Amino acid sequence: MKIAIIGTGKLGSSIAKGLIKNKSFTSLYLTYRSIKSVKDFEHIENVILTDNNALAIAESDIVLFALQPKHIDGVLEAVKAKITKNHIVMSVAAGVDTARMANSIGSDKKIIRVMPNTAISIGKSMTCIAANKAGQDSIPLAQDLFNQLGTTLVMAEDLLQAGTVICSSGIAFWMRLIRATTQGAIQLGFEADEANELATQTCLGAASLLIETGKHPEEEIDRVTTPSGCTIQGLNEMEYQGLSSALIQGIVASFEKINELKTS
Ligand SMILES: NC(=O)c1ccc[n+]([C@@H]2O[C@H](COP(=O)([O-])OP(=O)(O)OC[C@H]3O[C@@H](n4cnc5c(N)ncnc54)[C@H](OP(=O)(O)O)[C@@H]3O)[C@@H](O)[C@H]2O)c1
Repeated sequence: MKIAIIGTGKLGSSIAKGLIKNKSFTSLYLTYRSIKSVKDFEHIENVILTDNNALAIAESDIVLFALQPKHIDGVLEAVKAKITKNHIVMSVAAGVDTARMANSIGSDKKIIRVMPNTAISIGKSMTCIAANKAGQDSIPLAQDLFNQLGTTLVMAEDLLQAGTVICSSGIAFWMRLIRATTQGAIQLGFEADEANELATQTCLGAASLLIETGKHPEEEIDRVTTPSGCTIQGLNEMEYQGLSSALIQGIVASFEKINELKTS
């Protein structure tokens, strides 16, 4: 596969590192505005660094735009003559839908939106994927690429904003829950580093249990809640204080905001 990443910033670099680690290309063009951002990728076999976006596109089959939303329209306008129906065009730009991209490059082009989260830097991203009509048949290829950097879920494009809240903002939501657990652990007598280890490993264990067993969370909760015991006492107090409702309302608030940003 001949791949170009247009805009090698934080996310573009993480994706490039994953692709290089998995040797999943025949050539990889990385484009930049400032050479500093691609220093890590000098002298790697079949990796070509250039500030010429049009050249990178002309030499590649898959073109992944990893630009800030404010830059994407201008860059698409500048390179649209180089994008053909054979290209698979992917974009990670938050809030930029396939219709907006098609305005520049044409709705007959294969356009796939990909929304990873920051765990992509360690190969553990939950990545949401949606495509325009022309891009539907190329979705498996996008999945193959991003499954190397974590897990993917394909969805209708109108769910992608919701997916962004759950998975991209979700990283911050889970961090807060972990931080609160460490605060509780310190109050109960642990050192900060011990509290952090206890909280993160327990969180990892809880998620792994559900992933590996396929069980519903409530089933696993039943296994640790002895009648009249300490776990149910703690859970009931958390619910009384609004834990589930605060989380759900936070998710909905985040979703309302992302939709406002999209239309503003
Ligand atoms: N970071 C994440 O985890 C994450 C997750 C999901 C989605 N996203 C989305 O991914 C996109 C990129 O985010 P990021 O955090 O990686 O941003 P970033 O670090 O600013 O990366 C964008 C890169 O594009 C370069 N660039 C700008 N104009 C260019 C041009 N004409 N040609 C070539 N390169 C150009 C920038 O160069 P300069 O430094 O010179 O400006 C910068 O290195 C955003 O749309 C964001 O919504 C990010």
